[in-house]
Amino acid sequence: MPTQYDAAVVGPRTPVAFEALRSEALVCVRCPLAEGRTQVVFGVGDPHADLMFVGEGPGREEDLAGEPFVGRSGKLLDRLVQEELGMDRSRCYIANVVKCRPPENRDPAPAEIEACRPYLESQIDLIDPRVVVTLGNFATRLLLDTTEGIKALRGRPYPFRRGHLVPTYHPAFALRSGGQVVAEMRADLVRAKRLLAAAPRPVEVLPSPTPDPDHPVGPPELEPG
Ligand code: URA
Repeated sequence: MPTQYDAAVVGPRTPVAFEALRSEALVCVRCPLAEGRTQVVFGVGDPHADLMFVGEGPGREEDLAGEPFVGRSGKLLDRLVQEELGMDRSRCYIANVVKCRPPENRDPAPAEIEACRPYLESQIDLIDPRVVVTLGNFATRLLLDTTEGIKALRGRPYPFRRGHLVPTYHPAFALRSGGQVVAEMRADLVRAKRLLAAAPRPVEVLPSPTPDPDHPVGPPELEPG
């Protein structure tokens, strides 16, 4: 059910709306995670990116740095994205389901996920990515609105908003599990790459300016002689 709060943060796709959303999130006290955080980890990257990653929530290093996926999981994510998609994190957008660190790196609680959800929904609305890659169970279940696990869900894309969602494992799980899981993550990233190539963002056509009779547009008049 939309709340009054949702209406305040969901706006047109403009840098102003994105900055307003960020400013609002940075002082958020909607759930008890606010009490234990060092800083809000809103997200990082290009707010006009075609590709967006959604993780679970900040860990200790992210809480200190104010940026998602800067620890060991992040290093693996960066490497796989570079190797499979040929891009670095500045060309995509990375956010989390919850923007504040759960204490002792515990799972985010359902009420915390619900409280934070309007920020993620608004980020996706404003970025309007072609492809969202969800990292692990929390992001995948939330955005696909399912209770299925990541093992069963990954391996295929899902229609999502104006594009697609590609579920994959959380890089922390890949670090714990090793070769086969990393190989499956790579395959999921290749799936995302193919979807991006098949459905690039349509070129936005700007309306042509109304002609100004006092300032006609055309080749400069040549001086006689
Ligand atoms: N794990 C996540 O899900 N997100 C981060 O930002 C870091 C680790």
